[in-house]
Amino acid sequence: MQLPAPFVALLATVTLALFSVDARPVRSSRATGRMITLPLRRMQGNTNLHVELRHQQQINRAHRLMARASGLPGPSDAQLRANLEKRASFIPSSPTRRFNRPSSDYVLASDDDGAVISNLAVDNSNDSNQPAVLAQNSTQIDIDGADTGYLATVEIGTPSRNFAIILDSGSSDFWVGSDVCTDENGNGCGNHTFLSAANSQSFVNTGKKWSVTYGSGAASGEIVTDTVILGGMVLGNHSFGVAHSMSQSFSGDKAADGLMGLGGKGLSNQGVPTPVQAMKDTGFIDQAITSYRLPRLLDHTNNGEVTFGGLDESKFDRSTLVTVNSTGDGFWFAPLGGVSVDGDDVSGIQSTVGLMDTGTTLLVVPTKESAAIHAKIPGAKLQSSGQWSIPCGTNTTVALKFGGKSFPINPKDLVFASFGKTTGDCTSGIGSFDDTKFLVGDTFLKSVYFSTNVDENTITLAQAI
Ligand SMILES: *[C@@H]1O[C@H](CO)[C@@H](O)[C@H](O)[C@H]1NC(C)=O
Ligand SMILES: *[C@@H]1O[C@H](CO)[C@@H](O)[C@H](O)[C@H]1NC(C)=O
Ligand SMILES: *[C@@H]1O[C@H](CO)[C@@H](O)[C@H](O)[C@H]1NC(C)=O
Ligand SMILES: *[C@@H]1O[C@H](CO)[C@@H](O)[C@H](O)[C@H]1NC(C)=O
Ligand SMILES: *[C@@H]1O[C@H](CO)[C@@H](O)[C@H](O)[C@H]1NC(C)=O
Ligand SMILES: *[C@@H]1O[C@H](CO)[C@@H](O)[C@H](O)[C@H]1NC(C)=O
Repeated sequence: MQLPAPFVALLATVTLALFSVDARPVRSSRATGRMITLPLRRMQGNTNLHVELRHQQQINRAHRLMARASGLPGPSDAQLRANLEKRASFIPSSPTRRFNRPSSDYVLASDDDGAVISNLAVDNSNDSNQPAVLAQNSTQIDIDGADTGYLATVEIGTPSRNFAIILDSGSSDFWVGSDVCTDENGNGCGNHTFLSAANSQSFVNTGKKWSVTYGSGAASGEIVTDTVILGGMVLGNHSFGVAHSMSQSFSGDKAADGLMGLGGKGLSNQGVPTPVQAMKDTGFIDQAITSYRLPRLLDHTNNGEVTFGGLDESKFDRSTLVTVNSTGDGFWFAPLGGVSVDGDDVSGIQSTVGLMDTGTTLLVVPTKESAAIHAKIPGAKLQSSGQWSIPCGTNTTVALKFGGKSFPINPKDLVFASFGKTTGDCTSGIGSFDDTKFLVGDTFLKSVYFSTNVDENTITLAQAI
């Protein structure tokens, strides 16, 4: 009997639970030896969009984020929209197809984690050689891809209530919505858990204002103090923000009630210690370290974890551990030593630095360097859009070198998603953009254990196990 894959995964979990002698709870938070570990869940992104457009959104987002991280003016909305429209024009399709809503005639990837969708139900019955066009004046289609969201549960207030919080390595402020929050159109801030004096006895509003702008979206409000509990560890009277205003990208989010920035000090807008710094200042942890084991949905698990105060030794191969100085002031920039494909160094890699960002889906690299890497991947093809395809079943290993060690990307993660019905070609998880640095997102980070230290401004990497 052939069991569906999720069921097999479930059985495996049950078996482990029955026979494991390690009584440590698998899915609950825990505090051990001055470290706090919380389960990390990946949020499902919008999968209604054609894979090529989702890929382009990620490239657009990469442009904008890299510009921001480099202190440069980013591309305009109009430029990003033009990129998206151009990309749509390369999708072979009937002119009647609309790419901005759930569509029955062009079924889209169902797994936002880069799954190989081999049976894309493409309706060719009304095909013509006309290029696809984006639906006119569509407002529903975002010009840039939403951040890849990883959620952890944080308790706030007295009595304490659970808030689902996005953990973001590319910013340094912590906030949740306030009861009086409105979005940019003056509407309420959605179906979320909110914080105010009305629902927390320990809530104190300092009246001090804050605001922060992200690659996609913004939030602003006032600094408050209240009790924040992470994995059972109680931070009394912690200073953070409540949002009186947030953009629709947050208010309309189905899963997240707020956001915790885990970047370096240079990115703080609120001017208060981040939770990880506060945990260190109060002596709960010894070092202001945040470590990530990102979940891989492709393995039918959503069991990542974040650890504050140290590294979870059970999640990586110690012999591969390297620590490098971040060259950024807040953003996590790691010196890049090169790229290899199946053990062969790729010549022509000029970038010397990679921005490590858990909120980015792809590995996005300068166009010429992308060509040099893909040239060594058997079956890779340059698409007319300027982006690359690779065989969906590729078993090529691309590795990035940091701190003198090579870290291989699991070939499964090299694939973004299938874009065609039968070709066996998939959109590459390595995207191309006009920049001089690598943007190192989940395509790479899912294969490693990734850790940052705010006080030392260092990045630690190791091969994940
Ligand atoms: C193709 O689509 C057009 C526009 O929606 C429609 O008028 C036409 O009947 C369709 N042709 C076929 C063969 O389905
Ligand atoms: C699209 O917007 C333009 C101006 O922004 C307007 O003139 C045009 O009528 C709109 N088209 C549709 C189909 O709504
Ligand atoms: C609001 O969220 C709660 C909890 O996630 C859910 O049970 C409820 O159905 C939602 N309500 C609406 C109107 O979406
Ligand atoms: C909470 O912190 C604020 C600012 O850090 C301080 O002014 C206030 O006295 C503290 N309150 C308590 C009850 O510790
Ligand atoms: C990192 O920076 C510190 C000083 O801040 C220096 O002592 C150390 O040698 C640097 N490490 C590397 C690998 O460059
Ligand atoms: C994977 O590796 C095997 C053996 O090295 C090779 O024969 C096969 O063609 C490879 N598959 C792909 C899709 O590259």
